Amino acid sequence: MRIGTGIPKLDSLMQGGFLEHSFNLIKGTQGAGKTLFAVNYLLYHAKAGKEVLYVSMEESWDNIVKNLPEGMKKTYEEVKDRVHHLDFGSIRPLLGKDVLDVNLLAEVITTNMGVHKTNIIALDGIAPLSPKYGTLQDLRAAIFELSHRIKRAGGTMLFTSEGRSAGAEEYVADSVLVLYYDGIHRRIQILKMRGSDFVYGKHGFKISNNGLEVYPSILPKVEPQKPQTVKFGIKGMEKILGNIYTGDVTLLTGPPGTGKTLMAYYFLNEAAKKGEKCVYVSFAFPEKDVLKRVKDLGFNLSTCKIIYQDPFNFDPYEFMWKALKELNNAKRVVLDGINEVEMNDEIRKVYHEFLKNLKERNILTLITYTTPTIISSYSLGNVNVIYLVDNIIDLRYAEIGAELRKVMVVIKSSSVNYERGIIEYEVGKDGIKLLGKAEYLEGIISGIPRRLEMKKRVEKFFK
Ligand SMILES: Nc1ncnc2c1ncn2[C@@H]1O[C@H](COP(=O)(O)OP(=O)(O)OP(=O)(O)O)[C@@H](O)[C@H]1O
Ligand SMILES: [Mg+2]
Repeated sequence: MRIGTGIPKLDSLMQGGFLEHSFNLIKGTQGAGKTLFAVNYLLYHAKAGKEVLYVSMEESWDNIVKNLPEGMKKTYEEVKDRVHHLDFGSIRPLLGKDVLDVNLLAEVITTNMGVHKTNIIALDGIAPLSPKYGTLQDLRAAIFELSHRIKRAGGTMLFTSEGRSAGAEEYVADSVLVLYYDGIHRRIQILKMRGSDFVYGKHGFKISNNGLEVYPSILPKVEPQKPQTVKFGIKGMEKILGNIYTGDVTLLTGPPGTGKTLMAYYFLNEAAKKGEKCVYVSFAFPEKDVLKRVKDLGFNLSTCKIIYQDPFNFDPYEFMWKALKELNNAKRVVLDGINEVEMNDEIRKVYHEFLKNLKERNILTLITYTTPTIISSYSLGNVNVIYLVDNIIDLRYAEIGAELRKVMVVIKSSSVNYERGIIEYEVGKDGIKLLGKAEYLEGIISGIPRRLEMKKRVEKFFK
């Protein structure tokens, strides 16, 4: 049997939670959330009707309650009859100066476990034990003794530590969870779990007014379905890209003003006109701006959920789980302007997981990426999810005569029968129109397009 950690999504990463009758370490620096984690563990079980016990080594219980996020405070008010606390700060004078002797500590805790009929315990802050036990061996032995006595009394205990005592706690603990906080993002990692498998690596962790939330680095698996061919949503696009299948991910790259977002609206419109659900994530414009633009252009994307993701406040784990909520039955997803978020290894890994999940769900996905320079040789910058992308279409400006024209070229396609040539297109008042093969140009991809010869454009390419 497993004992829930208090956060169901975390339980799902460790086969259901803590082992029964175990001693579990929550490690983290100051402000990482150890105390809140410990209290959340107790409140979760108190809510389920159990008696629970909080042992405070440093902070007073009143102070802890005062600083709880609103949601947790509310829960506490509902279940406070079942939440018992042992305030060592205040009972210390009754026990004499040796209160931090491990035998006494174990005695007081196990006695209270008996009195309150509880086996769910949190001991917040193990540091006050260490002064009495000078060597690492002594400290280990002391913590081991504490652990042994509490487990023998039937307890499943969580204890917190800043982890300064060079591994004494880790060694004794049956499981070790680490909380990280860099001042912007919080992460949680399962470091050890005796006798059981768990999901490695860091996961998103959030403290808000609602309480604690874990955003796992992996998404629930979906049974992949058979892909079907679909239309992109722009007339003639299939001729350029070859067959497009559900589950395909298409990357649209190009400088500002080449029509990437407009193409994305066409792409979504194709689903919306059939009443299919879709999700549009903008990294650039708040929802109301998107709605206005969509309306001005005459699109009806009423079946689309529009999400604005502030690129300066981007936590990839939280984003992935927020988006996941909208994916049920969605047929298309657009991530518009992923370049707005600076890429790093963590984000890359999360995109990998997210795109893989979109594929499994047979969702047709379009990603747009704005390249920084107007005319340059082709570079995918640091997009770096390329191996998960089925199609890449690069949009470009071509300076011809006195005009800046627009062309596109397929860099990669999941289909064999895609167009290898360079296609001129137009973004006019009637929207996007593919004009034909720009056979009169050369040097487009190298960055300096030149006119090959006078108007040898293949007319009626798309009749
Ligand atoms: N309502 C809230 N919304 C967002 N963050 C909150 C909220 N309430 C508390 N926090 C954050 O939670 C953290 C406090 O967590 P906690 O007291 O559990 O940390 P700790 O690891 O026990 O620290 P210490 O080592 O100092 O005891 C702080 O970083 C605080 O900013
Ligand atoms: Mg604390």
